[in-house]
Amino acid sequence: MSGIVDGRVVIVTGAARGIGRGHALEFAKQGAKVVVNDLGAEVDGTGSSGAAAEVVAEIEAMGGEAIVNGEDVSDFDGAERLVRAAVERFGDLHVLVNNAGILRDRMLVNMSAEEWDAVIRVHLRGTFAPLRHAAAYWRGKAKAGEAVDARIINTTSSSGIYGNPGQGNYGAAKAGIAGLTVIAARELERYGVTVNAIAPAALTRMTEGLIPSGANADPDDIAPLVVWLGSAEARGITGRVFNVRAGVISVAEGWHAGPAVDNGGRWDPAALGEVIPALVDKAAPNALTNGQIPGREA
Ligand SMILES: NC(=O)c1ccc[n+]([C@@H]2O[C@H](COP(=O)([O-])OP(=O)(O)OC[C@H]3O[C@@H](n4cnc5c(N)ncnc54)[C@H](O)[C@@H]3O)[C@@H](O)[C@H]2O)c1
Repeated sequence: MSGIVDGRVVIVTGAARGIGRGHALEFAKQGAKVVVNDLGAEVDGTGSSGAAAEVVAEIEAMGGEAIVNGEDVSDFDGAERLVRAAVERFGDLHVLVNNAGILRDRMLVNMSAEEWDAVIRVHLRGTFAPLRHAAAYWRGKAKAGEAVDARIINTTSSSGIYGNPGQGNYGAAKAGIAGLTVIAARELERYGVTVNAIAPAALTRMTEGLIPSGANADPDDIAPLVVWLGSAEARGITGRVFNVRAGVISVAEGWHAGPAVDNGGRWDPAALGEVIPALVDKAAPNALTNGQIPGREA
């Protein structure tokens, strides 16, 4: 096993199946030592099984090195144990891929607080907690004068950055992850850590019924970009979000300030009727659910 991430130590969360399994296998093929984290949940986050062990067995059968980790990524202390497990077993940590996720789709008018909390917890807290502990580890190394060339790759979704009805909880969490990516990139640059995110599209159990079966959307097509982002070569790229499906990769361009008006002081609300519609007309429209700007489809 050798390639573009030779000798790097990588944590992939939610790596028992779907897109995360593809990440773990490709990192191993490219020479990395992999911590295969997964609590083996159903798609809605309930239950647990030992599926991560199968991925570790696959990596070992290829001649690679990997260990199983069954922590819940949204458990703050569990996430600390996850980071510690990588360092204790493999001596260091270079790449954290936050991929674990669940779905509880519901139109907002019917959504329960429990459905909201479960999805926000696994995605948002489940990205924050491993990121927080990995970042503290790398800051400690940087402060001790050791070289750090580390990567965090988060997983957002078109649902969050473009907006998909029926996924208010999931989309809010995924938009939060995109925002967290930009902030973490700015905070952690000084320690030698880059932070990027992907918005993948792939046929997995999570997207059954959302992506037509037979569509060109193999989950293993997502890993090459993530492995490259985890490599030393990607040092100059941070704070970015990438759409990726099959062989197509695009940069998701973020929010930015568009056309402006300045009254030189506080507005009278009654005066804004003359101003805001014209301002909105001048601005680029929001992207469609597929990320394209209406009238400017690629
Ligand atoms: N499949 C797509 O088209 C698509 C699109 C956009 C975003 N995503 C995102 O990609 C990621 C992977 O999704 P997938 O399609 O491979 O789904 P999946 O259900 O096949 O895999 C998700 C994995 O996460 C694990 N997991 C869930 N909760 C966990 C927790 N608390 N701690 C540790 N592990 C946990 C599950 O056990 C499962 O193995 C998710 O973040 C998902 O939101 C997927």
